[in-house]
Amino acid sequence: LPSDGGSAPTEGLVVVSNREPYSHSFDGDEITVERPVGGLTAGLDPVMRRAKGTWVAWGDGDADREVVDEHDRVGVPPEDPSYTLRRIWLDDDEVEEYYYGYSNQVLWPLCHSDRGRITYEPRFWDRYREVNRRFAEAAAAEADPESLIWFQDYHFGLAPRMVRRELGDDATLAHFWHIPWPTWDDFRVCPQSRQLMEGLLANDLLGFHVDRFCAQFLEGVDACFDDAAIDWNSGEVHRGDSTTLVKSFPMGVDTDRIERLAGSDEAEAFWNEFREERGIADDAVVAVGVDRLDYTKGIPERLRAIEYFLDSHPEFRGEFVYVQKASESRSEIPAYQEIQKEVSETAERVNDRFATDDWKPVVAITEMLPAESLYGLYRHSDLALVSSVRDGMNLVAEEYVAAQLDNGGALVLSDFAGVDDTLGDYAYTINPYATKEFAETVHRAITDDTQERRERMRHMRQLVTAYDLDAWMDDIFETAAGLRDETTE
Ligand code: F6P
Repeated sequence: LPSDGGSAPTEGLVVVSNREPYSHSFDGDEITVERPVGGLTAGLDPVMRRAKGTWVAWGDGDADREVVDEHDRVGVPPEDPSYTLRRIWLDDDEVEEYYYGYSNQVLWPLCHSDRGRITYEPRFWDRYREVNRRFAEAAAAEADPESLIWFQDYHFGLAPRMVRRELGDDATLAHFWHIPWPTWDDFRVCPQSRQLMEGLLANDLLGFHVDRFCAQFLEGVDACFDDAAIDWNSGEVHRGDSTTLVKSFPMGVDTDRIERLAGSDEAEAFWNEFREERGIADDAVVAVGVDRLDYTKGIPERLRAIEYFLDSHPEFRGEFVYVQKASESRSEIPAYQEIQKEVSETAERVNDRFATDDWKPVVAITEMLPAESLYGLYRHSDLALVSSVRDGMNLVAEEYVAAQLDNGGALVLSDFAGVDDTLGDYAYTINPYATKEFAETVHRAITDDTQERRERMRHMRQLVTAYDLDAWMDDIFETAAGLRDETTE
């Protein structure tokens, strides 16, 4: 792959993701553009600009269709179009069955080892296959023989094989699976386990966040295919004439940007105003939790631990505030409606039990926060509570660490989040189900010696800075380029 000195391809990069990097919506008669706000999309945007590549994604904005040129393509960013956004239009049935159905009521709970929340309907699978085909056809049409096609996530378990069939040996295919990969015993619950693994084995490179997910994937391959040869040391799977390297790449965050925004005047101003508005005392101990409102995030478990903490440590009543920013998500799905209800009822119960005239233990933020405000909130909170019952990585934990400009703050982190593999030695580790111990760990994180807390944070900041979002992408691009070189030698 041609490269610009770093490892990112300088041409021929095709990214395939469910969410789009730019979306257009109507503001009265005018069309406005929503830009990538953070995470992978914002990080990949400059790479795409340099590579002048193509991004294939679901066109979900209400004005997206108004701005397309020929063939549903639009140049982005709008003020200086340097790469192509190729939109795939989905009708209501496709959204219901591919996105809310197979992706989020089968694969999501399946991969998070939550059998009880799987709702399987045959029509979900049919539609998932159809939509994967549409994305695959678009990606193949955009690629040339030198291209790297990079698939994102569980929405596209089948597309790599479809693309491979179309392109033969041309192009390098890489896939990053952002959520956990479960044990074979959990994965085989899926009626299409074999087809999905076959789809993924059409990639030259398949990435997961942590080694455990790679091992679980390889164990599944071993159990499912008699004709697969697995090199357990390198992670290579040989099957027929194809080879897939399965490797971990623990995703990082944009630490430079987070540090800059966390230290901005806007961050400071938000924090001061927020504290005043919500009546949070200057010397209160503030814990923060920021999540998409999902049953995998362990939010009711966290609230129960806070309740236990206030019960068992009455000296913290009036002194401790938990700020919860939980954004509603996938609300069409009954399991998400249930978790939303459970979270608000539990928060209310805790407040009803302990609140006084001038203090509330749980303060909820429901509005969207600009990045400066979010990082201001992180920076000024004394601890972050990340209590996922299962999580691919959890970038909130890393963002919180990156925002600790003075190495203050403590991270209370679930053993069940992928990021525990990288930060677990320095975080205050918890099992979200062990309410009493969770509460005691919160107490310890608050009362530990300041020097001890700072040392932990200093180590974690070193780790997240050394392997940030750019390093993560470089690692993937470099590995993919190496595989391509091997096959062309
Ligand atoms: O964690 C997996 C993931 O795809 C993330 O990459 C993303 O932030 C989140 O889920 C988004 O969910 P949705 O696109 O369904 O709103």
